Amino acid sequence: MTEHYATEKSEKSHFGLILHLHPRKVRESTFRFTLTFGLGGMAAILLVIQVITGLLLKFHYEPSPESAYNSILNMQESLLFGKMLRNIHHWSAIAFVWIAFLHMLRVAFTGAYRPPRDVTWITGLALLLLLVLSNFTGYLLPWDQLSYWAVTVATSLLSYIPLAGEPIRRVLLGGAEVGQPTLTNFFNLHTGVIPLLIIALMAWHFWRIRHAGGVIVAEKDKESPMVDTRPHLINREFIVAMALLGVIFFISSLLDAPLRDRANPAFSPNPAKAQWYFMGLQELLIHFHPLFAVFILPVTVLAAAVWMPYMKSTDRNQGIWFLSPVGIRSAKMAAATGIIMTIIFISVSELLPDPEALLPKAPSLLTTGLVPFILAAGTMWLFLKYLRKLYSLKRFEMIQSIVVLMVVSYTVLTVTGILFRGEGMNLVWPWNM
Ligand code: HEM
Ligand code: HEM
Repeated sequence: MTEHYATEKSEKSHFGLILHLHPRKVRESTFRFTLTFGLGGMAAILLVIQVITGLLLKFHYEPSPESAYNSILNMQESLLFGKMLRNIHHWSAIAFVWIAFLHMLRVAFTGAYRPPRDVTWITGLALLLLLVLSNFTGYLLPWDQLSYWAVTVATSLLSYIPLAGEPIRRVLLGGAEVGQPTLTNFFNLHTGVIPLLIIALMAWHFWRIRHAGGVIVAEKDKESPMVDTRPHLINREFIVAMALLGVIFFISSLLDAPLRDRANPAFSPNPAKAQWYFMGLQELLIHFHPLFAVFILPVTVLAAAVWMPYMKSTDRNQGIWFLSPVGIRSAKMAAATGIIMTIIFISVSELLPDPEALLPKAPSLLTTGLVPFILAAGTMWLFLKYLRKLYSLKRFEMIQSIVVLMVVSYTVLTVTGILFRGEGMNLVWPWNM
């Protein structure tokens, strides 16, 4: 009896923390893998991986322009598993952004952002922004040509923000350009402030999920039975965690994190590109006035994302992918249109003569800002109106199609920026780069 009690107690302490994050019982229908794809859980595991590998890297890393690059070289060459450690941190960082982004899409496409999940959605948005910031600050630390110039390009985007842009850029860089104060700032943000904020927000995110009564359940599954969290949920989470770790280890043993020559502030590579997740913005900047590309458009998208949960509707469809069969059809149509329209937009903008050269007297805010913006927004509005009529869409199905359209367009812009922009940011085929 005592022995049995002792075993049970020690098992409980093994699972204590994990069980504490969950209710004692969960609805069986939420186990369906295709409802969540385990993406939120994977994001949580990636944070643990990043904190552990990050702390280990910190033992060997020296945050100064003179020694940062060499400390990475030394770590890769002399430290046992040093290269592997860096590879895991590098590939997990990329996986983290992808998985959190896909998790956001799954939440959006199953309608799980509406009250009582509104605060969960908003804390999620803040987590995604912090994740990008974490990637951004970490990227500079190796102090090679790639990182130095990507940070230079990306921070120069900030100066296009009216009034506050330049002061923010200077505070972040600790001066006029990327240098020692920038590395100190980025190192402290990356290894201190940002991880602490992410951990605190994640705790809030988890608490809100519990508060909302767990993961979203479709109307038809409301009667599904409640089962014990352990073993049913814990076993499934364990399998997902092992599969994720397996994939990360596999990739990290095959592919090395890039490391170019030591940073040389006097020699800028051509083309100088921002980090991959900012390439969509850099591409937009080629077509739009900077005020629209890096301020009006991103701020509008963010404001719309925060406002999304509070849009009024009588539509109660939730917990199933794309909300309804009509929702699926409309989402497919929005995706196809998004791809085609963005490619047409890029080509037309490339082929037409530069409006600034054509109308040198007209203010560029009008010729490359307001006019193309109204044209693009107007085309989108007409298309959405047509879509709404074609499928008799309800409000949330409509919102979902807008999200599809925007995500697909941003993806096309990003792919164009990464694969099709060569010297002088001119369009080239990837094999001619
Ligand atoms: C560090 C990043 C994140 C972590 C660790 C995380 C973790 C989780 C977990 C474990 C769940 C429970 C079920 C599931 O896997 O879907 C969840 C649900 C949720 N997450 Fe996240 N999340 C993150 C980022 C985000 C983002 C970027 C958003 C959206 C902007 C978001 C919005 C939500 C919402 C609304 C729910 C409730 C969904 C439902 O009830 O079905 N999360 N999150
Ligand atoms: C949200 C979690 C994190 C993300 C997304 C992230 C991301 C990154 C990225 C993208 C790099 C550049 C990797 C490369 O060389 O290509 C990096 C480097 C680095 N990170 Fe993190 N990191 C995270 C958390 C942490 C934490 C918690 C620490 C330490 C307390 C840390 C310490 C470091 C150090 C020392 C480097 C420089 C070594 C290197 O570049 O290989 N990181 N991080």
